[in-house]
Amino acid sequence: MLPGDAERLMGAARTALRNAVAPRSGFRVGAALLTGEGDIVTGCNIENPSLMLTVCAERVALLKALSEGRRSFRAMAVACGDGRECFPCGACRQMLAEFAPGLVLLLDAPEGMKKYALEELLPHRFIP
Ligand code: THU
Repeated sequence: MLPGDAERLMGAARTALRNAVAPRSGFRVGAALLTGEGDIVTGCNIENPSLMLTVCAERVALLKALSEGRRSFRAMAVACGDGRECFPCGACRQMLAEFAPGLVLLLDAPEGMKKYALEELLPHRFIP
């Protein structure tokens, strides 16, 4: 990542969470994915009355990017509405690992941004 990328990415994640559709949980999440080309693709959580159809912010961002033909990803920032550090769920980790195994994850936290390698959050991922 280039200098300033992390802050730019987290700013985009915080902005994206404003668009969250979360009337059921009231829990807003924003994600911002940095592509290999240096562009940012954002996502937010989208809830549905049929709760299993809810899609997390991370997967919305990933699917948007994939649908635009993007295939190279460097980092993802995740911000939650209450400002606490929140980790991507297992389903999102698995999906990200499939398309971006070397991804750097930046998580918003009250004491400052935290950085993780996706590999450390999802060791031994499923590979058919
Ligand atoms: N959520 C995300 O957007 N990302 C995650 O990694 C975990 C959960 C959303 C789904 C739901 O709308 C809300 O957070 C509460 O679970």
